[in-house]
Amino acid sequence: MHERGGAIVVQIKHGGRAAHPAINGGHEILAPSAIAIQGDAHAGAEKVPFAIPRAMTGDHLRTVVAEHVTAARRAVDAGLDGVEIHSANGYLLHQFLAPSSNHRSDGYGGIPVNRARFAAEVVEAVAAEIGGDRVGIRISPAHNIQDVFESDAADVLATYGALIDRVRPIGLAYLSIVHADPANGLVQELGSRFGGKVIVNTGFSSQTSREDAESLLQLPHIDAVVVGRALIANPDLVERWRVGHPENKPRPELFYAFNAEGYTDCPFMDR
Ligand SMILES: Cc1cc2nc3c(=O)[nH]c(=O)nc-3n(C[C@H](O)[C@H](O)[C@H](O)COP(=O)(O)O)c2cc1C
Repeated sequence: MHERGGAIVVQIKHGGRAAHPAINGGHEILAPSAIAIQGDAHAGAEKVPFAIPRAMTGDHLRTVVAEHVTAARRAVDAGLDGVEIHSANGYLLHQFLAPSSNHRSDGYGGIPVNRARFAAEVVEAVAAEIGGDRVGIRISPAHNIQDVFESDAADVLATYGALIDRVRPIGLAYLSIVHADPANGLVQELGSRFGGKVIVNTGFSSQTSREDAESLLQLPHIDAVVVGRALIANPDLVERWRVGHPENKPRPELFYAFNAEGYTDCPFMDR
């Protein structure tokens, strides 16, 4: 990657209540509050009901911050260019941000600025360890995924606005926003308040195509577009898009399993 001028950023994620003892080595499931996701978790080819998580104590909060810092340090020491803090898609930091999954009565729950506090503290600690310019953050405001519901528009703006106001002085590498409509006022407001590089993705509804990406780049405050499934299926996607070569189709039936099939066995184009 580096020889070809690319940059590698690894995402650091704590699953919170979206994890399961069947896939995390039997560890306790932690979350802001003891509220389980309704439904089943993926455990390899099996599906198992989500566990009721333990509401995190102050010690848990400090440990999880330290774990993010350790993971970031390892990533940079291994030669990667930076890390992305996963605060989206219903995982732990998103569970703190949203009122449906965060019923805490301490300084990490309740009003928007409190719900934004834990994600901000993780970002600050990681930036202090490896430098803010090596850290990005991914959010998915009002994405309503994995039982993390954010249905009050004023509350969403207040919560994510508080997060962005707090991390803005760090000078992060980028803010990545998952939102069905990146032209929406919320995304534009958050992007403008952040003031740095903003990356968007519209989520799972339809696969991002080259045309979609190009039209998203016409919107204000948007510097880049995340591409997921097309890149999984096409190891040489950039070259295919450059020359207009047909793409391999992703095989979603193989996603979220434990082997290479559907991930790293996709053919390169004939040259
Ligand atoms: C198999 C698979 C795994 C994914 N894993 C992650 C992940 O670990 N972290 C994350 O933020 N998004 C993850 N995503 C979501 C993608 O980043 C992206 O938002 C989604 O695929 C929609 O973009 P697309 O239309 O380009 O595929 C994953 C998507 C797929 C298909």
